[in-house]
Amino acid sequence: MIIAIDGPAASGKGTIARRLATHYGLPHLDTGLLYRAVGAAALERGVDFADEAALAGIAASLDVAALDAEALKSGAVGEAASRVAALPAVRAALLRLQQDFARQPGGAVLDGRDIGTVIAPEAPVKLFVTATPEARAVRRHRELAARGEAVGFEEVLADIRRRDERDSGRASAPLVQAADAQVLDNTTLGVEESWQAALALAERARAGR
Ligand code: CDP
Ligand code: CDP
Repeated sequence: MIIAIDGPAASGKGTIARRLATHYGLPHLDTGLLYRAVGAAALERGVDFADEAALAGIAASLDVAALDAEALKSGAVGEAASRVAALPAVRAALLRLQQDFARQPGGAVLDGRDIGTVIAPEAPVKLFVTATPEARAVRRHRELAARGEAVGFEEVLADIRRRDERDSGRASAPLVQAADAQVLDNTTLGVEESWQAALALAERARAGR
């Protein structure tokens, strides 16, 4: 059983994906971490964001087992991730790894932007998790504050809008809702309510209803 969870930044898709994975006893891959790792490496090594071949090289040699989610959470890395993610050669270099993860025997949960459309269009369970930019900015602002990153709310909101635009506007695997995805708009829902709604949708899709 492949479960595909897509949605914009800070929509809560990662939280839902992790909980679904635990609930169904499936392995989980946060595909945003792959792009974040490439973005972080590019920043670290001072690679030009226009140097598609060099960035694709970094993507091809990622050591997925060594990814440190905590170290990749900063706003700067998120911004770098969305820039490298617009490059077709970078996406191509990360494709096989994600497809293999999705198709492992027994199934898997993946979350990102293009899981239901590009990585695993055959997934029987597809959720598109979303919320207004304002609601997502509140969440991201709170997360960054908890990490000690002192960024103003307006700046976080502007960053969310810029990332939405870049993720949705790019030519290569843009953020779009799969035609057969079930939409969960959790703007007015708390974490627990959002989880219950996601589980109900997943159960319905699993039952083929
Ligand atoms: O957590 P947040 O939504 O801020 O970001 P993320 O899921 O960690 O993804 C970081 C960036 O990677 C996104 O802005 C996308 O541009 C890119 N990404 C993508 O293009 N495709 C995916 N399957 C996952 C992430
Ligand atoms: O993976 P993505 O960037 O879409 O979001 P996340 O990391 O799952 O969630 C971002 C933040 O929003 C976390 O701090 C969650 O606790 C919070 N949140 C949520 O996930 N769902 C809600 N309905 C409300 C808040």
